[in-house]
Amino acid sequence: MRKLLVVALLITLGILLSGCRFGSENPEQVLTIYSERHYDTDRDIYALFEAETGIKVNLVRDSADPLITRLQNEGADSPADLLIIADVGRLHRAKTFGLLQPVASTVLHENIPENYRDDEGYWFGLTRRARVIVYHPARVNPSELSTYEALTDPVWANRVVTRTSTNIYNQSLMASFIALWGEEAAKDWAAGLVANFARNPQGNDRDQAKALLAGVADVAIMNTYYIGRMSVSSDPYEQEVAQTVGIFFPNQATTGTHVNISAAGITQHAPNKEAAIRFLEFLVSETAQRLYADANFEYPINPAVEPHELLTSWGAFKAQDLPLSSLGVHATQAMTLMDEVGWE
Ligand SMILES: [Fe+2]
Repeated sequence: MRKLLVVALLITLGILLSGCRFGSENPEQVLTIYSERHYDTDRDIYALFEAETGIKVNLVRDSADPLITRLQNEGADSPADLLIIADVGRLHRAKTFGLLQPVASTVLHENIPENYRDDEGYWFGLTRRARVIVYHPARVNPSELSTYEALTDPVWANRVVTRTSTNIYNQSLMASFIALWGEEAAKDWAAGLVANFARNPQGNDRDQAKALLAGVADVAIMNTYYIGRMSVSSDPYEQEVAQTVGIFFPNQATTGTHVNISAAGITQHAPNKEAAIRFLEFLVSETAQRLYADANFEYPINPAVEPHELLTSWGAFKAQDLPLSSLGVHATQAMTLMDEVGWE
C-alpha cells in the first residue's frame, strides 16, 4: 500500500515537473487590454512592448461604459488583464465596482507622481491632458479671458462652443467644479455656459476648434492635445486651424486649469498579472512616454520626460489641485446637473 502511494506521488511529481518545463519552453503569452483610448500612438507603443518582451498584446477597443459592463458580465471568466480609460473618472468607478486589483511596483511609484496614481494602487496615470479655452485671435484678445466662470458673462453670448454633455471630458470638467465649488455653484456655471452657446453642442473636440475658423463661435472648451494632433494632420485645413487658434489656460490666478489623465488598472481576475505589471511599467518608461508626448501631444506623466516643444511653447500652467478620484465620485451628479440645465 505504502509502495503504491510512493509511486503515485512520484508520478504526480513527474507530471508537475514536466508541466513546469513545458511552461518555460512555451513562453508565448497574450495580454488582453480593454481600452477606451482611440489613438494610433497606442498601437505603436504596444508593438514596441511586444518586440521587447515577446508578450503579445490583444487590444479590445470600446467606450468606457461598455467595457466596464463587459467586465462585470464576464466576472472571473474575463480574458482582460488591464483596463485602460481615457479619463480617470470612469476608472475610479471600475475600482468601486470591484473590477480592479491593487498592485505594488517600485517602478510605477518612481515614474508616476503621487497625485496621478491611486493611493491604494488600483490605477495608475499614463498621460495628462488639459481642458482649456481655445480662441480665435482675430475676435478675441487673450486679455479678455480669465476663468471658466467668466465664460458665463453675457459678453460671451452666442460665442461659446463645446461638445455634448454625454462626453466624458465635459462630465469630468463639471465634476471638478462640483468638487471645487459645490453642487449649486457648478449648476449655475453650467446653466450660464449653456446660455452662451453659439450652437447646440455637436461634434468632437477638433470640431470645436474648426467652429472658430468657420466663424460659428469665438471661444471653445477643448483638450490641448487635439491642437497638437491637428498641427501634424494630413488635412491642410486642420493644420490651418491649429496654426490659427490661440490656447488659454484658465483660472491661473484661482483654482487652476482642469487636468485629467488617461490611466490603467489591472483587472480583478487578470490571467497574466505579472505580465500586466510589466506592461504598465513599460507604459510609464521614458521610451513609451516620449511616444505619447511626441505622437499624441499629451503631457507626460513621467516627470523625467519633457512635453512636446509645441506644448512647451504654450508655457507652464497651474493645474487644478484635486484628488482625481473626485472626478469619478461626482461623475453621475455631473451628468444629472448638465441634463437639468439643458446642456445637450
Ligand atoms: Fe480624446
